[in-house]
Amino acid sequence: MFNILVFGTNSDPIPEELKTLANNVEIVGYDSEKLMEPSEPVPSLILCYPHQGEMSTLEIAQTLRMYYQELPIFFIASEKKDFDKKRLVKNGFTQAYLLPWEKADLLRSLKEESIYSVVPELRDYQVIKVVDLTPGTVLDFSLKVFLPRNNKLVQFSHDGDPISDDKFAKLYENHLNTLFIHKDELEKFRKYTAETFKKLLMPNKISETDKQMKLEKCVRELISDMFYEDTQENTFTKSQALLNEVKEIIKLLLSEDDKDIMKKVGTLINQEGNFYLHLSNVSAFAGLFAIVLGFEKPEEMALAGLLHDIGKINLPVEIAEMDEREMGPHALEAYKKHPNYSIDVARLKRIALPNTVINAILQHHEAMNGTGYPAGIASSKITKEGRLLAIADAFDYKTTMHPGKPAVSMGQALVELFQENSADPARIILDREMLKKLKDFFTKQ
Ligand SMILES: [Fe+2]
Ligand SMILES: [Fe+2]
Repeated sequence: MFNILVFGTNSDPIPEELKTLANNVEIVGYDSEKLMEPSEPVPSLILCYPHQGEMSTLEIAQTLRMYYQELPIFFIASEKKDFDKKRLVKNGFTQAYLLPWEKADLLRSLKEESIYSVVPELRDYQVIKVVDLTPGTVLDFSLKVFLPRNNKLVQFSHDGDPISDDKFAKLYENHLNTLFIHKDELEKFRKYTAETFKKLLMPNKISETDKQMKLEKCVRELISDMFYEDTQENTFTKSQALLNEVKEIIKLLLSEDDKDIMKKVGTLINQEGNFYLHLSNVSAFAGLFAIVLGFEKPEEMALAGLLHDIGKINLPVEIAEMDEREMGPHALEAYKKHPNYSIDVARLKRIALPNTVINAILQHHEAMNGTGYPAGIASSKITKEGRLLAIADAFDYKTTMHPGKPAVSMGQALVELFQENSADPARIILDREMLKKLKDFFTKQ
């Protein structure tokens, strides 16, 4: 049974999806009795909304944590003001989400928790990337595969088993990019990947599993930091430090030979989208595409990808929540300013950006035929960086699942984008030449 206890009111933005995820959702107001006395039966998870009362949010966190020591307790806010994620977590919340930007994230965590309630052992497992395993090698750890349809964790290979080519082929056939390892065996996995790299004479390489874990963590921290409106000097140095860390990981991500690029792009896609993943994916895609197209500084493209939509956090909440296609003229006008806002946010956090990066961010929604925004410039007036970032952005949209739209493979995505931008000269949005080169690269076999 997955039961959710909600401290809040009916006017709080309680996600519709809760009802389908939980067996039971109980919404209670903040009365001290409910707070001080563990509810029966014990809920599987608690959601807290901000409360205008005697108790501060941090006190509520501490109180609940006292009574429910092991329980996941999520805090949900829709005001950027005072939303200091680190402090909220330090005082007892398992996680804090700022809506609407982090709604997909919240839903993902809720979904994860609901799966944990059925498959508790999954909590002890960590995801690893299939690309980190070398066909034909013997593993000294065992691996499982998760079947989401039946909510089952099934043995994939035993400790001491060689991983045959057949087994690999099966994984790829089923579009499985990830496997699960018990957290106690993670060290063995790290040793295995280190050893593989040593044999390949690349002792300083790190595994894709670790790279992505690091990138995601840094992107999260960097963006949470941008959400938090603090004008004190120390946050500037913090942003800088976080940004440098991200740059280091980007360097690792990009510093490899060409033949890996296809594989790499392949492992990044097929994910559920959210704000963070969109930014980290567009960052990786823009960087990797820049290598394929022979750009001089692919790391600048990766940086542009990372920050391109960050200005969305400055949009009014109602607009940020809307789908672009449902926006009225008023909302659309505000939405079309988000590329400019992205530059504003970076400036506010005193992140120095080269002109190429600024142009790429400002122009990621410009169109070759001049129908884009914010400036409405056309073809060669758009810098090549802006044109490439627009492709990376569109590529991420194609390869991610969206309501009513399945994800497509990387080759398919580029073929479709190329076709959509070839048929009618008046409707060309993206740079055809670039698309052609990328399509040829990613569909060669
Ligand atoms: Fe955008
Ligand atoms: Fe975007």
